[in-house]
Amino acid sequence: MNTKIQTEAELEEHLSRPNEDTISAMAALEGDLLILGVGGKMGPSLARLARRAADQAGVAKRILAVARFTNEKLPSELKAEGIETVACDLLEPGQLTQLPDVPNVIFMAARKFGTAGCEYLTWAMNTYLPGLVAERYRNSRIVAFSTGNVYPLRKIAEGGASETTPVGPVGEYAQSALGRERMFEYGSSRWGTAVAILRLNYAVELRYGVLVDIGRSVFERRPIDLCMPSVNVIWQGDANSLCLRSFAHCQSPPLVLNITGTAALAVREIALDFGRHFGIEPEFVSGVGGSSALLSDVTKANGLFGTPRVHPDEMIAWIADWIQQGSVMLDKPTHFQTRDGRF
Ligand SMILES: NC(=O)c1ccc[n+]([C@@H]2O[C@H](COP(=O)([O-])OP(=O)(O)OC[C@H]3O[C@@H](n4cnc5c(N)ncnc54)[C@H](OP(=O)(O)O)[C@@H]3O)[C@@H](O)[C@H]2O)c1
Repeated sequence: MNTKIQTEAELEEHLSRPNEDTISAMAALEGDLLILGVGGKMGPSLARLARRAADQAGVAKRILAVARFTNEKLPSELKAEGIETVACDLLEPGQLTQLPDVPNVIFMAARKFGTAGCEYLTWAMNTYLPGLVAERYRNSRIVAFSTGNVYPLRKIAEGGASETTPVGPVGEYAQSALGRERMFEYGSSRWGTAVAILRLNYAVELRYGVLVDIGRSVFERRPIDLCMPSVNVIWQGDANSLCLRSFAHCQSPPLVLNITGTAALAVREIALDFGRHFGIEPEFVSGVGGSSALLSDVTKANGLFGTPRVHPDEMIAWIADWIQQGSVMLDKPTHFQTRDGRF
């Protein structure tokens, strides 16, 4: 794929363009789809991807999208594309019970940043709410987003954590995310709910993500900290496609799946790549990187779905162009360098 992505409209179109596998997945999925927590970085393009895949599959399917809609423009944008929206604060008592029964549910409401100092709210969003959702939708298939942060940092030489690596969440955000998994696991065990838990590491598009954070630092001549020496990333469109394709693998006990790119990318190399695009020599905080990092092994996901379609080199080239032309950014830094689990 050598397409250039120059405008937000082109980006949204690209992120929500379904491939054959996604279209087949939506063709095979029985019933409507409910997305809880659609208002964030990934949800709008996931809803659009589901809509377009269902339409191209020729199946009648309602896509219902739930959030508080902090972004007030989003409901009308989604509605214009055939996605039904329901404004709802999922933590408000009684609201969850009023949502319609739907056989396929994606849980992506979450809280990470701002945890330090307001830990209880993170636990409510990431652990208490999943308990409520697991009960409310016990008769549905549930695909629940989780995070690679449930694993401990790994020595680079060990390679990424696989799904059988013992969890070891560092800090309360990661602990609450493991709580989220445990609540869906509990619901699956208690009611036989078919569940897939996706341990995602760093979705990337042109307006946010680890590669954007590194690229902007290089472009703005800010020194790059190598304390987190390596990362895994996946193009957001690929991550969302795998989310929809995971419904076919929901099971009890839950399927647990690492979702990210195949390669561990060295932060130094990413910065040097951006430097070549910009004609800028990147500066580093110190020459020596840390010896461990948050890394996941995706052998299992690649076995089920094949490797992600968009290659990191392609993402870096697109992001470099995006940064150089001064295009819009979400200004939501990932804080991927954080090693102590405090977000
Ligand atoms: N993006 C990544 O790289 C990444 C990496 C690892 C894991 N994940 C996981 O993947 C999932 C999606 O990621 P994301 O980046 O799109 O997350 P996000 O940007 O944090 O979006 C989550 C959305 O949930 C909605 N929400 C929050 N509180 C709510 C409430 N009380 N009631 C209803 N909706 C509420 C919010 O929209 P409103 O403000 O409109 O309500 C928010 O924008 C999350 O579970 C996240 O933990 C993402």
